[in-house]
Amino acid sequence: MDILTTVHDLRDRLRPHRQEGRSIGLVPTMGYLHEGHLSLMRRGRSENDVLVATIFVNPTQFGPNEDLDKYPRDPEGDAEKCRSAGVDILFVPEPGEVYGPQFQTYVTVERVSAPLCGASRPGHFRGVATVVLKLFNMVQPTDAYFGGKDYQQVQVIKTMARDLNLDVRIVECDTIREDDGLAMSSRNAYLSPDRRRQAVCLYEALMEAKGFFKNGANNAEHYLAAMRTRVNAEPDTEVDYISIVHPDTLEDLAEVGDKALAILAVRIGSTRLIDNMLLHE
Ligand code: PAF
Repeated sequence: MDILTTVHDLRDRLRPHRQEGRSIGLVPTMGYLHEGHLSLMRRGRSENDVLVATIFVNPTQFGPNEDLDKYPRDPEGDAEKCRSAGVDILFVPEPGEVYGPQFQTYVTVERVSAPLCGASRPGHFRGVATVVLKLFNMVQPTDAYFGGKDYQQVQVIKTMARDLNLDVRIVECDTIREDDGLAMSSRNAYLSPDRRRQAVCLYEALMEAKGFFKNGANNAEHYLAAMRTRVNAEPDTEVDYISIVHPDTLEDLAEVGDKALAILAVRIGSTRLIDNMLLHE
């Protein structure tokens, strides 16, 4: 596995593969890799001739009071995990390599970025869309792999790819969960043992919603009340949002029909966690 830090070297290394018509898979990450990331890499490996992973803690997707400075990092451990997942090229640029001093061009994906995490983290999806488009331009992948835990992020990226005619297949992969159902996330590393036990309330709230759906309940307010009750049963939890939305538009549903997504963001102490579940699957 090659570890590269400049766009110039990355392009040089990929050019012959592209000229030979080889498919290139891309797994963009912010590092502190867990089984969720590795599942994306394994899928990317099995579906492509060349596999590129990137590790870049992207400053433009963090708000001023967010965890950019303390975001967990483990460069050596991550490189080892990438190697064992079959990554060919690991790209780990410094912020100055990605954003030059004159940087001033951003991508805004409008409607689908607005609700949910977009409402509570202003500018977040502008930063995500911008860096993902930049990584797509640097790597020119055939396929790019993203985890389903970040459901809204995947919708933003799919919308950008459609609207800007990007020649890349966006592959959405299942959320990988711990044994008790907690969605794997690099931010789980912030949780103390007590908080870690409490954090399962996100998954359990989603399972409550799933149960309502199976029983044919259609008033979204009933789903939301049950989910809030489950989350609020844990001490030191603070609901950022709990919503039942249409899976394509992310608009709130008052009546739950044949397609619905339950989605939530909750602070457990000071750690903000997100999760979601398609109720009809
Ligand atoms: O999901 C993430 O880790 C990040 O948002 C991404 C897609 C790598 C962009 O920085």
